[in-house]
Amino acid sequence: MGPIQINQILKSAEVGQPVEIKAWVRTKRESKNAIFISLNDGSTLHNIQAVAEPGQFPESTLRLITTGACLKVTGTLVESLGSGQAVEVKMQDVLIYGTADPEDYPLQPKKHSLEFLREIAHLRPRTNTFSAILRIRHALAFAVHKYYNDNGFFYLHTPIITASDAEGAGEMFRVTTLDAGEPPRDETGKVDYKEDFFGREANLTVSGQLEGELGALALSKIYTFGPTFRAENSNTTRHLAEFWMIEPEMAFFDLNDNMDLAEDFVKYVIRYALDNCVDDLEFLEKRQAEEEKSKPQAERSMPLTEKLRFVVDNPFERLTYTEAIKILENSKPHKQKKFQYHVEWGVDLQSEHERYLVEKHFKKPVILTNYPRSIKSFYMKVDEASDAAPAPTVRAMDVLFPGIGEIIGGSQREENYDVLLERVHEVGIDPDIIWWYLETRKFGTAPHSGFGLGFERLVQFVTGMGNIRDVIPFPRYPKSAEF
Ligand code: 4AD
Ligand code: MG
Repeated sequence: MGPIQINQILKSAEVGQPVEIKAWVRTKRESKNAIFISLNDGSTLHNIQAVAEPGQFPESTLRLITTGACLKVTGTLVESLGSGQAVEVKMQDVLIYGTADPEDYPLQPKKHSLEFLREIAHLRPRTNTFSAILRIRHALAFAVHKYYNDNGFFYLHTPIITASDAEGAGEMFRVTTLDAGEPPRDETGKVDYKEDFFGREANLTVSGQLEGELGALALSKIYTFGPTFRAENSNTTRHLAEFWMIEPEMAFFDLNDNMDLAEDFVKYVIRYALDNCVDDLEFLEKRQAEEEKSKPQAERSMPLTEKLRFVVDNPFERLTYTEAIKILENSKPHKQKKFQYHVEWGVDLQSEHERYLVEKHFKKPVILTNYPRSIKSFYMKVDEASDAAPAPTVRAMDVLFPGIGEIIGGSQREENYDVLLERVHEVGIDPDIIWWYLETRKFGTAPHSGFGLGFERLVQFVTGMGNIRDVIPFPRYPKSAEF
C-alpha cells in the first residue's frame, strides 16, 4: 500500500532493486563528480541518499531541490561508499511535488532552539528531534493498548463533555453553545455565547475516572485513554491545558494490587520503547549529552537509556505519606530552610519535596500512599484510624519519577454508599449531579481501585525532554491555541 518507505528500504531492500521514494529534502550537496540529496520521509530517523551525476538534470530543476522541498525520486538501489549507510539511490528521474523557498523556509539544516521550534509547531515534526519524539510517543501509545489488551482489560470510551467535576478541583473549561445562523450579540456587539450544553451546564472532562468506575463495576477491568482538560493557568514545564490520560479501573483490586499494576504497567511501556525505539532513543540521548556538555560533570543527567533501564530493572520504593513527611522534616533543605514551601504533616507535597525524595533520598521512583484525607479527592477510600497518622488518611497513591515528580495519581475507591455520601456532602458536591455515580454503591457495590497516568509526563520521561510542550504535537497552554 502506498510507496515503499525509507525504513523498509533500509531494513530489507537489496542492491539492484528499482525504487521510487517520496520524501522531503534534508540537504543537497554538490561536488565535482556528483550531486547528493539527502531524503527523509519521517518513517525513520535515517535519511536515504539519492545521487545524481552532474548534468543529469537541468539547472532549472536542480535549483528547486532545496531543503524542505518534496520529491519523488525514481532510481536503483546501489551499494553506498559513504559512511553510515549501506545503500543509496542512483537517480534516474525526479519529480518535484513542492518547493520550499530557502528565503522563507524556516527549517534550515542547522540547530534550531526548542523555543524557536515551538513557534513553528506546524513545521517542527519535520526535524529529527520532533519526529523522533513523535515516533516514540506513538510506540508508547501502542504499548499502552497492548499491555491492557494482553492483561484482560477493555478499552472504555468515556465522555469528553460531562456535567461532573471528577477531581472536584473546579479547574474546568465550560462548554458553550453558539447558535446556528447569526449569533446573538450583547450591547457592545460581542457574540453572546450561551453558557450551556442544550440547556444544561457542561464542561470538558478533567478525568474519565468516574465513568471508568461504572465500567469496572460491570466489566471488571477497563481502561480509558483519552484527552483531558484542565483550566489551570499554570505555565510550568509539566502542565498542559489539554493532555492525554490513561486511566485503568479494576473491580476487586485493593491499594496493593493497584500499586503492583501501576509499577508493572509503567515498566512494561518503558521497556517496550527501549526494545522498539532504539535509534530514536540513541539520537535523543546524544542530543541530551550535547546540551549538557557545558555543565559540570556532577550536574549532568544519567544517559537517557541507562536511566530508563535503571527504572525498569529496579523495584520502586513504597512508603506512606506520613513516613515521607518524617524524611522531609529531617532533611537538610528543610533544616536549612531551603525548601520554598514549608513541609509538615497535612500539607500537599510540592514538586520540590517530591523531587527531593526521588532524586536525592531514594534515587529511584517512589510510590507514596495513605495521604491525609483533607488534601485528596472525595472518592478515595478512607483508611481505618491508626496511631501512625495524626488525622484521617485515605488509600491514595502517587507515583513519583526522577525529573518529573508526579507521573501517576490513583487510589482505592470508597465503595461504601454511606461513607461516600458523607464525603460528597463534606466537600460540597451536589449529590444530584453525580446520582449515577452514587447508585453504583447502592447496587452491587464492590471494592475497586484505579489510577491515572499522565501520558505526556511519561513521554517526557522516556524522551528526556525538559518541557512538556515539546512532547505533544500541538500543545495547549495559556495563549497557545493558534491552530
Ligand atoms: O492526579 P490527577 O489529577 O488524578 C486524576 O485525574 C484521577 N482521576 C486519576 C485516576 O485515579 N483515575 O491526574 C493524574 C495524572 C497526574 O499524575 C499527572 O501525570 C497527569 O495526570 N496530569 C497532568 N499532565 C499534564 N498536564 C496537567 N495539567 C496535568 N494534570 C495532571
Ligand atoms: Mg494528582
